[in-house]
Amino acid sequence: MKYGYFDDKAREYVITTPKTPLPWINYLGNEDFFSLVSNTCGGYSFYKDAKLLRLTRYRYNNVPFDNNGKYYYINDGHGIWNPGWQPVKTPLDFYECRHGVGYSRFTGKKRGLKAEVLAFVPLGDNCEINRVTITNESEDKRSFKLFSYVEWCLWNADDDMKNFQRLLSCGEVEVKGSAIYHKTEYRERRDHYAFFSVNEKIDGFDTVRDDFLGAYNNNDEPDSVVLQRSNNTLASGWSPIASHQICITLEPGESKSLIFILGYIENPRENKWESYGVINKKPAEELQEKYSTDEAVDKAFSALGDYWDSLLSRYHVESADEKVNRMVNVWNQYQCMVTFNMSRSASYYESGIGRGMGFRDSCQDLLGFVHLIPDRARERILDIAATQFEDGRAYHQYQPLTKKGNSDIGSGFNDDPLWLIACTSAYVRETGDVSILKESVPFDNDDSKAAPLMDHLKRSFDFTATHKGPHGLPLIGRADWNDCLNLNCFSEHPGESFQTFGPSEGPVAESVFIAGMFVKYGEEYAQLAELLGDESEAKRARDEVKKVYEAAITAGWDGEWFVRAYDAHSNKVGSKECEEGQIYIEPQGFCVLAGIGVKEGLAEKALKSVEERLDTKYGVMILQPAYTKYHLELGEVSSYPPGYKENAGIFCHNNPWVSIAETVLGHGDRAFEIYKKTCPAYIEEISDVHCTEPYVYSQMVAGRDAKFFGQGKNSWLTGTAAWTFVNISQYILGVYPTHNGLSINPCVPADFGDFSLTRKYRGAVYNITVKQNGSQSGVKKLIVNGKEISGNVIPYEENVKEYTVEVEM
Ligand code: BGC
Ligand code: NOJ
Repeated sequence: MKYGYFDDKAREYVITTPKTPLPWINYLGNEDFFSLVSNTCGGYSFYKDAKLLRLTRYRYNNVPFDNNGKYYYINDGHGIWNPGWQPVKTPLDFYECRHGVGYSRFTGKKRGLKAEVLAFVPLGDNCEINRVTITNESEDKRSFKLFSYVEWCLWNADDDMKNFQRLLSCGEVEVKGSAIYHKTEYRERRDHYAFFSVNEKIDGFDTVRDDFLGAYNNNDEPDSVVLQRSNNTLASGWSPIASHQICITLEPGESKSLIFILGYIENPRENKWESYGVINKKPAEELQEKYSTDEAVDKAFSALGDYWDSLLSRYHVESADEKVNRMVNVWNQYQCMVTFNMSRSASYYESGIGRGMGFRDSCQDLLGFVHLIPDRARERILDIAATQFEDGRAYHQYQPLTKKGNSDIGSGFNDDPLWLIACTSAYVRETGDVSILKESVPFDNDDSKAAPLMDHLKRSFDFTATHKGPHGLPLIGRADWNDCLNLNCFSEHPGESFQTFGPSEGPVAESVFIAGMFVKYGEEYAQLAELLGDESEAKRARDEVKKVYEAAITAGWDGEWFVRAYDAHSNKVGSKECEEGQIYIEPQGFCVLAGIGVKEGLAEKALKSVEERLDTKYGVMILQPAYTKYHLELGEVSSYPPGYKENAGIFCHNNPWVSIAETVLGHGDRAFEIYKKTCPAYIEEISDVHCTEPYVYSQMVAGRDAKFFGQGKNSWLTGTAAWTFVNISQYILGVYPTHNGLSINPCVPADFGDFSLTRKYRGAVYNITVKQNGSQSGVKKLIVNGKEISGNVIPYEENVKEYTVEVEM
């Protein structure tokens, strides 16, 4: 069952009923100011950091789900309703939500009135614009009242939910004209405030939440709206809000638009005040003025559209499969941008107060983002590298506002350092900008300890090379990519964090997955060394890689598939010897994509085993058989009920690894089959089973052992976005950036058909057409600007700005 449809031309997903199985959300904002917005106008806004600078309050774990947002209420004299249905939930005569790239539009109709809300964050300004347009579609003249509503968060969203003894005394506001200012703590150490304004004379306002709602009322029946009168009271303490009241009269056919702005302002300390106790509103008023007309809003909105046109034009495919086209050309790239911006901090499943930016997560997000805005990728790589320790280890997370590592989680996840090589290599292959490797970057954010980025990569590489266990495989530390495989943890008491408990640095537990990473990114490191002319370092790296390769195909091989790990007692994990958890997906996917066991025939076997043991109709499960009891020696992986999360769920993130691995062996049919199983556009039809948004990936789909097999969880912020984009764009469609130029090597299903592709790369445009000839892989002929070339790589030439590329498979 579907709850909407793709409007490909408009690049929108159109939701046609508010009663989606879960809130289906969108993200507004591109740089510093962000909002989450659900299909019923729920959500919240923040500046840079969802924990430290939260602008509007959200209620977690509430019923109904998705409580609090930016709401517009209409009292038309016969009842009250919202254009986005929530929170009043009056049945609408028409409802539609269109989520587009960086904006959302809502339309609600009731009793002859049509209310539209267009919500977006304009480029370059720290505000969200909500244009509310009301049209009288009836035959009669209509008079009605509109009320806006946002509830302020007292900045630190974590404190806001806990520290009531302090914060309920701190709230402060000002009102001037049609703008309501939230200035809690501005009197003391904060130099920033927020405002909510409208470009129209108002007929009343509320800033005291309990005056607006009325005692014991929920936000579905606010007194002010029901009784059609605002209180015009100024908040002092408790819970400040911002609500405007506007009385409107419309002739039949007449429309009126109102521009609401939620803005964030930082003032220089010496310029904080306009007069004693009165905030300096000048920058806020400038912003309000800037967006005070429909023309200005239209212009900003179309600039946002142009911005996305230009980003998405960097990789564009036209194939016979409309679902591939819509995912590749719009939604997958869009999700890559969102994960780049948010890491794993703020979604409807990540609270925004828990994790900041993950080290490994952000490095992997870059793999799917780097072609979009290479400059921002560059900056991000340097920020991430600056949190690394001198011995190559990495903070597992850092906070976007401070850019400093989080000491509460610390370090010890032994895959982390290698991901820094992965993203740097992707950046240099994309841009050819070798200068990044020479940038001086601090360790642990301490400028007195700084070294060129290449030196950071060397320490990443050496960290793995010098932290190996009894089988010559890399030590796992607290965990590797699988955060839940905690082989040095041994937690026996509820509530202990699997991620931080235990000695962490066990000298025995090893990871075959990190071995796969080391082989892949060790080679990429060697190539970077070569680019810098350091042949001996490249050779040293390849020698180290060889040793780990050997260990992976001996101690890391189980007969039919790769072992997952060795535990702290040197027992195998993910082996036929195990009672539960005999085979894991990660080493099969990653070792094979790294090329391990290909020439020995092991790769073929490993992928066969995956197909036989892990495959389902909804995707490839992370392991089998699921753990049915808690294993002290394994940790969190065995804490989940069978079929969920890391315990035999379909973890979407590593499905593309297996799909890429299949392309390494030239299996286009199978690679694409795996691609399709988790791909949102292909499972749109079963949205009632899948539940999460049909336009983005979720972290996990419940596995075969789960009660709700096929149900998605934790949508949006997942490394799946980047990895699937890498898979479809670089391996299946086969346009892969190398240091010397674009390589073209598609691996598609036999019936895929011809396709064409535009790729912008290092300032040039590549117009590529592929004649597929029913072939799954292999390029027979490659003609570049009329000349046939040998091999797969189109040599990059600085002064050629346009390439016509004809490919015959
Ligand atoms: C989840 C993992 C996640 C980790 C982060 C675990 O509970 O299952 O998916 O990576 O928490 O801290
Ligand atoms: C989600 C985490 O964000 C990511 O870092 C981790 O690799 C996966 N879960 C698997 O545990």
